[in-house]
Amino acid sequence: MSNLVAVIMAAGKGTRMKSKLPKVMHSLAGKTLIEHVLDMVGQAGVKRSLVIVGHGREVIEAHINKRAEIVVQTEQLGTGHAVMQALPYLEGEQTILVLSGDQPLLKSETLNALVESHQIQGASATVLTAYMDQPFGYGRIVKEGENLSKIVEEKDATPEQRNIIEINTGTYCFKGSALKEALRKITTENAQGEYYLTEVFDILLKHGEKVVTYCTANSHEALGINSRGQLAEAEGIVRKRILEHWMAEGVTIVDPASTFIDTEVVLAQDVTILPFTRLSGKTRIEEDAVIGPQTSMDNCIVGCGSEVTYTVAKEALIGERCHIGPFSYLRPGTKLEAEVKVGDFVEIKNSWIETGAKVPHLSYIGDTHIGKSANIGAGTITCNYDGVKKHPTKIGAHAFIGSNTNLVAPLEIGDYAVTGAGSTITKNVPEKALVVERGQQMVKEHWHREKMK
Ligand code: UD1
Ligand code: MG
Repeated sequence: MSNLVAVIMAAGKGTRMKSKLPKVMHSLAGKTLIEHVLDMVGQAGVKRSLVIVGHGREVIEAHINKRAEIVVQTEQLGTGHAVMQALPYLEGEQTILVLSGDQPLLKSETLNALVESHQIQGASATVLTAYMDQPFGYGRIVKEGENLSKIVEEKDATPEQRNIIEINTGTYCFKGSALKEALRKITTENAQGEYYLTEVFDILLKHGEKVVTYCTANSHEALGINSRGQLAEAEGIVRKRILEHWMAEGVTIVDPASTFIDTEVVLAQDVTILPFTRLSGKTRIEEDAVIGPQTSMDNCIVGCGSEVTYTVAKEALIGERCHIGPFSYLRPGTKLEAEVKVGDFVEIKNSWIETGAKVPHLSYIGDTHIGKSANIGAGTITCNYDGVKKHPTKIGAHAFIGSNTNLVAPLEIGDYAVTGAGSTITKNVPEKALVVERGQQMVKEHWHREKMK
């Protein structure tokens, strides 16, 4: 849509959130509120967006990172005042969408429908409205017959007006020239002493301009985030949308009530997600993989047919047909090739483990490269840190590390080498060698009886 500009208001403090974070920086299903709005506006095909910032502007500006033009509102004198700040950057012949940064559930289809209705009707302004069972806090749509007569804020409303359940969603479409004209005339004569954007409708109507409403059937989309309670409510709605989407794409989600999947996660067909599982960031799960129960993965990739159970993983790459867990901890920089096994109480950090290698029990593997088909015995520890620096360990292909081995890095164990259980290995081991480092076993026969004498 050319000649269409979005103005997104995001300068308010969000007092009702009681937070040091600006309201639009709060996170919803893995994305900030402002990102949700910017993404949605982008999906609707709007090429140019202006974001009005004020409170916490540095944080928001850095976060938006040039995705939109920034306009500063130094003092937050109300939504009308916020949009006034954008006027120098807007042209009269443009169609202007005004949105709030605190309305992350609005869908691009609805925004497009609003613009279409605005254009078909040849209106000067169109207000997106919705019916809310509990309209408390929202501006109410006051009508005379079918026509809008004004928008009244909760705090300015009469008891009868408070009974109106058609509310102002805070999303509007304007003819640029009409918006520019009307904004010049708004006042602060209301209960909050603010410049209300909603006053422009009174003004336009008085000037005989055509002002209409477009009502969205899905009132969920109008939810404005003003409190932590509303944030949680929105989280529930987005979460349900995401789960329904993936189920429709062929993913089995055994218990949607205990499954949390962020917006940017990607799941392939025939993936199964077992209960109490959380997938966040840009996690991607390939076909036939089974994740959970009780698994948390952030920014991970899991290959086809792998199973990950009772596991915590962050920034890890898991190849095809791997078996991870129960109770594995994969930390950033973990890269597992195909058919790797990582078992119970194993922690892996910044390590590359090649095809078919196994770390089945009770190990710490850090800054390590393990060759293919190597077997790491229970209780193996790579001693990678000397208190000052981290050092690497290399374990060759087909090596067999005995149980309870300490590998003191920097260290290289050759291909097919074997370490005896309980050894502390400090020097490199050549390929195919057996290395044992432990005290000789001393056996004092009848020692018990001797002592008793
Ligand atoms: C506003 C509407 C109300 C509507 C509701 C929908 C007005 C007067 N009221 O009320 O009719 O039902 O949204 O959610 O417009 N902002 C600024 N600068 C300011 C003040 C606010 O940028 O000086 C921004 C806020 O950061 C926020 C948005 O504008 O993103 C809306 O402000 P908010 O205070 O949440 O308005 P509501 O009371 O929700
Ligand atoms: Mg609001």
